[in-house]
Amino acid sequence: MVKVMIFDTHAHYMDEAFAQDRDELLASMKDAGVGTIVEVGASISSTKDAVALSRQYDFVYGAVGVHPEDVEHMTPETVEWLKELTKEPKIVAVGEIGLDYYYEDPTRQVQKEWFIRQLEAAKEMKMPVIIHSRDAAQDTLEIMEEHCDWSQGGVIHCFSYSVELARIYLKKGFYLGIGGVVTFKNGRKLVEVVKEAPLEQLVLETDSPYLTPVPNRGKRNDSRQLTHVVDAIAQIKGISREEVIRVTEQNARRMYRIRG
Ligand code: NI
Repeated sequence: MVKVMIFDTHAHYMDEAFAQDRDELLASMKDAGVGTIVEVGASISSTKDAVALSRQYDFVYGAVGVHPEDVEHMTPETVEWLKELTKEPKIVAVGEIGLDYYYEDPTRQVQKEWFIRQLEAAKEMKMPVIIHSRDAAQDTLEIMEEHCDWSQGGVIHCFSYSVELARIYLKKGFYLGIGGVVTFKNGRKLVEVVKEAPLEQLVLETDSPYLTPVPNRGKRNDSRQLTHVVDAIAQIKGISREEVIRVTEQNARRMYRIRG
């Protein structure tokens, strides 16, 4: 029987936090029960890195996109370049893209403009999207209503909003990305969301090197830490750890359209 393995739908292993031991760490993933990882671009340079890493490791896939904090470096040519990259066989999504009003730099107007352009690029290329949205619930939904091709699917990464808003995205067929926050003392809201959402629409994510689950909160995160997130979801839903790993793995493959 094939062992069911964890699928980390969102990581940043090309971050400098992994400069010393990246290859060693990635080589240890299979033995630790981690079967697949998606390296997510968040800037122009980290998008290049995500493509490179997906070429290097058979179990690593990539996503291409520019995070709201970095969009001031974008031009129409950058969008064309992202579209070209989605043609690579191991590039599985456009992201992470979205809005982050926690910081007001770049301005909301600039963030919105490039969010829309990247959503339109994903629509044109028929790709799923990875959405980053912080303190921007209303604007994110409004823009997605107008510019997202819901039928291509995608994930609200690090979902941090209410159960009511979760229901809207779930109804659209989107997935919710669940990571370390579900283990935090102040993660009650997310626990409610996990309770409400069907397991078939949850995916596991680390956002490595950030958001390390309890009991290792504050240390560098990596995909092996997802076992703590699996435990939390299993407990919230009253099901086995194996079921959480198996179903979220299937979900991730369906969402990113990875066969096998
Ligand atoms: Ni991220």
